[in-house]
Amino acid sequence: MMHQNLLHQYITAREYTITLCNGLNIEEFNTQAMPDVSPPKWHLAHTTWFFETFLLAVYDKEYKVFDTTFTYYFNSYYEGVGQFHPRAQRRFLTQPYLDKVKAYREYVDQAMVNLIKTGVNEEISFLITLGINHEQQHQELLLMDVKYNLWNNPCSRSFGVNVFKNIHKEQSKWLAVREGLYEIGASGHDFYFDNEAPRHKFYLQPYQISSACVSNKEYLEFIEDGAYQYALLWLSEGWDWLKKNKIAMPLYWLKKDNQYFEFTLNGLQPLQADRPVLHLSYFEADAYARWKHCRLPTEAEWEVAAEQFHFPKNIGWQWTSSYYSPYPGFIPFPNKAAEYNGKFMSQQMVLRGGSAASPEHHVRYTYRNFFPPESRWMFSTLRLAKNFGG
Ligand SMILES: [Fe+2]
Repeated sequence: MMHQNLLHQYITAREYTITLCNGLNIEEFNTQAMPDVSPPKWHLAHTTWFFETFLLAVYDKEYKVFDTTFTYYFNSYYEGVGQFHPRAQRRFLTQPYLDKVKAYREYVDQAMVNLIKTGVNEEISFLITLGINHEQQHQELLLMDVKYNLWNNPCSRSFGVNVFKNIHKEQSKWLAVREGLYEIGASGHDFYFDNEAPRHKFYLQPYQISSACVSNKEYLEFIEDGAYQYALLWLSEGWDWLKKNKIAMPLYWLKKDNQYFEFTLNGLQPLQADRPVLHLSYFEADAYARWKHCRLPTEAEWEVAAEQFHFPKNIGWQWTSSYYSPYPGFIPFPNKAAEYNGKFMSQQMVLRGGSAASPEHHVRYTYRNFFPPESRWMFSTLRLAKNFGG
């Protein structure tokens, strides 16, 4: 890759993370309303640590580590790199202060710009691209986490961001896919994560898939029909989860004076009927599909249909019925980056398609997101599928 192009991508990605944080107040930089959420300050430092650890410390002989304690604070989960601070306690890191984290970003950015300008080989170029894609993943996480933190504050406020301004619900229709041998997975020269490869053959029975995701209005019918009180619609684990957590509607929904509202990054808004329903757990998506006498698509069904019918990207992460597991012939990223995806291949389900909070051009049809079935603070939705003639 021409290093000017790489340099441009690096600077753009790093600046966008800062832009996303512009609306935060100082106290909000260190908030963590649940263990799955990370404080924005931690995101700022961790994405920087990634470039320092995987690039500068390895390939830049002149480079001096900014602060040796940061490896412990801002390593997320890389056992091969060393010990790290417990995820659930990231909010305890009142120090280093935000100013120092910002100085860390500038220090690493300067060294990275110099590294890229000296010209990089294929191996380094790949790792920089991985770091940029990692940064973009954290940009979406930042929006997810800020939203969750703001929602949990009794003086909840608008973040002043409307990530969904371009989404209009289309009329849904059934799309038919013939039985046959298909290929799924990534290949070629463009960047993809290790878990998307190798491209491989997959035999599919004939099926139908909905052209649009389920809307708020459609999901509301499910609620009003008493579905959250009807055990037979739910997976056993889902029913236990629902009762234990007193779940009666999607995350961020609120019913007040017989009217439904949805908390968004733009504050509390009346529920918009035609928007895709968001912030569902796998259990809710699965129960809705059952209520409609349908099912969730498998990830292979989703990907084949997405390519055939050019599904719009970034509507919302769509739950599939596929467990997150390695493709046949899966090879993790080399060296310490091997821990990036592969070690999370248990107890999680695959989601496809991207959300409005995903940075532009970050998502591909082959992209595999994954979360435990009870998670719903990501921008998750669903698209229905059914057997042919079903
Ligand atoms: Fe990360």
